[in-house]
Amino acid sequence: MRYRRLGRTGLEVSEIGFGTWGVGADAWKGGTDSDSLAAMQRAIELGVNFIDTAIVYGSGHSEKLVGQIKREHPEVMIASKVNPANWEWPASDKTPADEAFSAAHVIARTEESLRNLGVEVIDVQQFHVWSDAWVGQGTWLEGIEQLKREGKIRFFGVSVNDAQPNSVLKLVESGQVDSVQVIYNIFDQAPEDKLFPACEQRDVGIIVRVPFDEGALTGKVTPDTVFEKGDFRADYFKDERKAEVWEAVHKIAADLDIPLERLPEIALRFCLVPDVVSTVIPGMRSIAHVESNVAAGDAGLLTPDQIEILRAHRWVHDWYH
Ligand SMILES: NC(=O)c1ccc[n+]([C@@H]2O[C@H](COP(=O)([O-])OP(=O)(O)OC[C@H]3O[C@@H](n4cnc5c(N)ncnc54)[C@H](OP(=O)(O)O)[C@@H]3O)[C@@H](O)[C@H]2O)c1
Repeated sequence: MRYRRLGRTGLEVSEIGFGTWGVGADAWKGGTDSDSLAAMQRAIELGVNFIDTAIVYGSGHSEKLVGQIKREHPEVMIASKVNPANWEWPASDKTPADEAFSAAHVIARTEESLRNLGVEVIDVQQFHVWSDAWVGQGTWLEGIEQLKREGKIRFFGVSVNDAQPNSVLKLVESGQVDSVQVIYNIFDQAPEDKLFPACEQRDVGIIVRVPFDEGALTGKVTPDTVFEKGDFRADYFKDERKAEVWEAVHKIAADLDIPLERLPEIALRFCLVPDVVSTVIPGMRSIAHVESNVAAGDAGLLTPDQIEILRAHRWVHDWYH
């Protein structure tokens, strides 16, 4: 495992981190708590030291499982997220900042996360959505500063709205944020245009989420895949979308001249090409996926030829809304 600096936080985070939306959350079917705990345990044995969670994942259940692991391995760093009080996803520029993230809400929800996790401090506390209209507006910054002063959070980050990487540029410029979490993968390469250069300039850490486009880039979503009722992927991959991703991933494999089975490895290595990326957090609920993803990180960077080929597979789709 290699480690990279999470921007100006100075935290040395593993290149492969651990995403836990699927861990203990109602929106993902098919996993068990014991498998997820075993997967996190194995990841840590293999050098993973950064786990991303959120208060809304399973209404605190994901945080409780992550906290169990954290207490056994205090060296592991935790990033969590505060939900917007108005439950508006994605954030709207027209919504006043205090409707989503008043200081009182940010503090109360963070204290709840601390109780769920069973820890005294959260390494990186993030807002789960963001609008740049909120820079200089409302009381959110006072809440963050108070939490930092009281030692309840170490650093402040924002998880950028899905498929809107430029919606956080003003905040990055303001110098008020320590890290951003953004969708970046072979399909959605848009953060390279403006967000990555802005973060590099301001030394803001970058956490890459959804490296597999919710599973599409693992090559495991076929036209015949059926997701369980209530699994968010049933909607994300609805109608003709499964056939579209199936065709797209076969083109990638053909252009790279690799078997489809190697796609998860290539997808992760793609995310680590920009130096400015600190860590990539695939969602994992099995030891097998952990071992395969950590091995992908160990395989090092892609070749310039492979990167060039993958550039042509840029395909931004926002299937969340
Ligand atoms: N708004 C936000 O802030 C936001 C939104 C989305 C995600 N996130 C964060 O980002 C993390 C990653 O995103 P994600 O989990 O949504 O999507 P993802 O990482 O793109 O894909 C996860 C899927 O890939 C599968 N997978 C993982 N490794 C694999 C491998 N080696 N081979 C085949 N399949 C593999 C997982 O299966 P198993 O689950 O069965 O292992 C799961 O179905 C989340 O867990 C969460 O922490 C944040």
